[in-house]
Amino acid sequence: MVNFRLNNKEITYSGNLSECLLDVLRNEYKLTGTKCGCKEGECGACSVIVNGRLTNSCLVAMGSLNNSDVLTIEGYSKSARFAALDKAYASVSAVQCGFCIPGMILASECILSEHQHPTDEDIREGISGNICRCTGYNSIVAAIGFAAEDQVQNFRMSYPTIREVDLEEYVPKVAENTDNSYNADSPNSLPQTLREALVMRRKYDLIPYSGGTDLMVEENSDEKDYLFIGNLLELKNITEDEKYIRFGAGATFYEVLNHKLTPPILKEACKQIAAPAIRNAGTVGGNIANGSAKADSALVFMVTDSKIRLASSDSERIIPINEFYLGGGKTALKNDELIIEILMPKHGIENYSYTKIGARNALAISRVSFAGIADIQDGIINNYTVAFGAVIDTIIRRSDIDIMMIGKTIEEAKLIVDDYIDAYDKAIVPRRGRVGVEYRKDVCMNLLRDFIANTIC
Ligand SMILES: Cc1cc2nc3c(=O)[nH]c(=O)nc-3n(C[C@H](O)[C@H](O)[C@H](O)COP(=O)(O)OP(=O)(O)OC[C@H]3O[C@@H](n4cnc5c(N)ncnc54)[C@H](O)[C@@H]3O)c2cc1C
Ligand code: FES
Ligand code: FES
Repeated sequence: MVNFRLNNKEITYSGNLSECLLDVLRNEYKLTGTKCGCKEGECGACSVIVNGRLTNSCLVAMGSLNNSDVLTIEGYSKSARFAALDKAYASVSAVQCGFCIPGMILASECILSEHQHPTDEDIREGISGNICRCTGYNSIVAAIGFAAEDQVQNFRMSYPTIREVDLEEYVPKVAENTDNSYNADSPNSLPQTLREALVMRRKYDLIPYSGGTDLMVEENSDEKDYLFIGNLLELKNITEDEKYIRFGAGATFYEVLNHKLTPPILKEACKQIAAPAIRNAGTVGGNIANGSAKADSALVFMVTDSKIRLASSDSERIIPINEFYLGGGKTALKNDELIIEILMPKHGIENYSYTKIGARNALAISRVSFAGIADIQDGIINNYTVAFGAVIDTIIRRSDIDIMMIGKTIEEAKLIVDDYIDAYDKAIVPRRGRVGVEYRKDVCMNLLRDFIANTIC
């Protein structure tokens, strides 16, 4: 059973836990203002606000909603803030067929609650995951701008948004949970603690579900059995010790991006991931667990030689990330294990480069991505690492080549730069894909040359 709040009403849902929120809203609760466009997280027509954040309801399985707060356009349209936005949209004729508008309005609300005086750039970024096929974005951007200048900010929403509390103090609602949705004897149970989740992982054949942004686009996602771990507090922590910044596997891209401990190279990668609704749900643990060569945060964890902490109900291990990635989408995760956290070295990663080449951020899976770290102290190269994503079926990270640079003075490194480039030229053999092999090879080599030029030449 899932207990959640829908448009300020307490609801108990006892249907299929793997069903997506979009279908349940439309079919069971008859809230048809939430539209179905792509069902792949790419159009934003299905946008709702979950726990104060913009969310694609097509990517949310019902089991992940226990103790959550869901607001649809029907609930929002009763607020004074909606009235002000409605007026602003009408004043610049920002609506034609109206299909995208419920999602656009909720995206507008999220922009306005995050930025009191949004710039055009803030607005365009905020609606970057919402597609409109007929109005044209300029009038929508103008409407949101007018709403910001107008009285929207004078009306408070009656539900708490994450942005109203300090992120440091933000505790997901599951912490307040008093009901017990956990029963060790049922695979449909909703674990409330990491311990419970690990016991269920061992006992039942369940797929770990964190943010659902990969799982829910898979075929027949509603027929699969999930282990819902996205709200577990133990997986959300971002902490530090002497050597590492420790990212809980369940930390979302949004949480990572906005955390004070997150180093610039990882912020840069998270900033370029998709659109707000995906960043609000997708987690760093999910990004690694999918074993994809295109995973953007995984590329950064790889180039920084981060480590992965894995646990089962009776054991725990920490392994280097390059031992976790086995290639071809496979990982070293065992059937009874979960990723608990990622340990990213704190020192020596200040001088970095990160580039993602993609078609459009809000949709874009990388065509090629590159990350480099150069730790040079007093003219000596302590560390020099590069990694390439989306080129072959795993992230390319060749410490056997990078070692050529390590321990060298800048002058010595300049003498072997051509050999270094040559080694990568031989090592990078892009596999065939939608984007041409020659193009991706050229981009890789150009990014590598740029990095070298900016660090040692
Ligand atoms: C429109 C769209 C755009 C996207 N753009 C990008 C992009 O620009 N860059 C990018 O890198 N990705 C992108 N993605 C992919 C996706 O958002 C990320 O891979 C995300 O990190 C997945 O995290 P999640 O929590 O949603 O994973 P889920 O879907 O919950 O799970 C993904 C996989 O990880 C496993 N898993 C999750 N957590 C754990 C854990 N703690 N322990 C063990 N296994 C676990 C699951 O079983 C599953 O196999 C995009 C996806 C969509 C739909
Ligand atoms: S229906 Fe397109 S993002 Fe959900
Ligand atoms: S108004 Fe028609 S899709 Fe946006």
